[in-house]
Amino acid sequence: MRFIPVASLDELQENEGKPLKINNQVIALFKLTSGEVHAIENSCPHVGAPLDNGILEEKELSCLWHGWKFDLETGLSTSCPGVSIKVYPVKIEQNTVFVGLDEES
Ligand code: FES
Repeated sequence: MRFIPVASLDELQENEGKPLKINNQVIALFKLTSGEVHAIENSCPHVGAPLDNGILEEKELSCLWHGWKFDLETGLSTSCPGVSIKVYPVKIEQNTVFVGLDEES
């Protein structure tokens, strides 16, 4: 796994998604009110809506198109059992947010 710097912590707005494209992977970054940062695949498994503009309530993100819901921490859908999105490891050092990608990606 390789951690890539993707944003400064200060530039992230609380509870608003930030879309990223890194090595052909589409990722959405979210900073919660608690200060936690999560990175998820930015594509809804239903019919592919971007998830960075979804509606966030605590750690639960609702897709804007048809309302499927996902836990940002686990990636598991909280509305459709058995459905999930990819989540990426995040680390923060000083003011920089890093997202962990598999070596081959
Ligand atoms: S595309 Fe996300 S719920 Fe339909």
